Amino acid sequence: APEVPLGCSGKTIPAIGLGTVADPRVDAETTKAAVLEAIKAGYRHFDTAFAYGSEQPLGEAIAEALSLGLVKSRDEFFITTKLWCTFAERDQIVSAIKMSLKNLKLDYIDMYLIHLPLRLTQQMTKTPVPKEAIKPLDTESVWDAMEECQNLGLTKGIGVSNFSCKMLAHLLSFAKIPPAVNQVELNPFWRQKKLREFCKEKGIHITAYSPLGANGTRWGDNRIVGCDVLNEIAKAKGKTTAQVSLRWVYEQGASMIPKSFNKERMRQNLDIFDWCLTEEESHKINQLPQRKGSTLTSIFGPHDFLLEIEAELEQDS
Ligand code: A2P
Repeated sequence: APEVPLGCSGKTIPAIGLGTVADPRVDAETTKAAVLEAIKAGYRHFDTAFAYGSEQPLGEAIAEALSLGLVKSRDEFFITTKLWCTFAERDQIVSAIKMSLKNLKLDYIDMYLIHLPLRLTQQMTKTPVPKEAIKPLDTESVWDAMEECQNLGLTKGIGVSNFSCKMLAHLLSFAKIPPAVNQVELNPFWRQKKLREFCKEKGIHITAYSPLGANGTRWGDNRIVGCDVLNEIAKAKGKTTAQVSLRWVYEQGASMIPKSFNKERMRQNLDIFDWCLTEEESHKINQLPQRKGSTLTSIFGPHDFLLEIEAELEQDS
């Protein structure tokens, strides 16, 4: 995949990475095998998170790819992982990133993100999570520790995920190192126009998760792969509906992390760079109804505080 500029940092990020959040029933061996297959197909950017449980198999696959000589050096990879909400406190963050580094068998991460704009005071053992376990994020002290992670060389870059324009503006008001990335849901059905414009102006790169609407997962559906408008465009171009969705995301300047553990589909998802959407096709896509897929309340429970965050996030699309 080509590299795209990483905001105003002067660095770049591969436009397509492999998402590794999978159904909990997927075992580590399957994840490791899928990552090795992806490396063979040309993927160098991988997205994981402490909370996904995929750091370890991803780390094993990277180590194996290096020892087999499939990839010459660690520097060729771009690895993103995320600080989970239970560690989102000033004095826990350096040890949290070290735990992720250990899982990944790496000595640095390329991009370390705050996973969600909230803190949990206890492990998630059941859902809904009790209301009193969900706390607002003390963004200023958390970001100070994220900056420390970068200054210590534990990560090359730091950023956030699921942040609204308002949250980003607050963060920028005290950040010594501005966030390089905001990773958010972005696809033809959740276009985030306001957020994209804000991030462009501030030099914050957007990485799109659920670029295919997370079809087949507990948190996604077939609104993209089953969309008539996208199907028609795909048919006319001799492409798949998934490719049309990914191409639309690419044309917005974002990088993206489609998840596929299927060899043919992971190759198909890389094949979006030698054609483009016409103005008319983009116009049709930009008229599609808006509906967010994953929500905080579906993950943690229907709590008022989460509904407030969701309402704020929805204003950006
Ligand atoms: P699979 O792993 O069997 O390929 P998202 O990236 O939006 O989270 O969506 C991921 C879901 O979309 C997965 O269930 C994945 O299934 C499926 N998927 C990935 N690539 C394609 C594709 N090219 N065509 C159809 N479905 C795809």
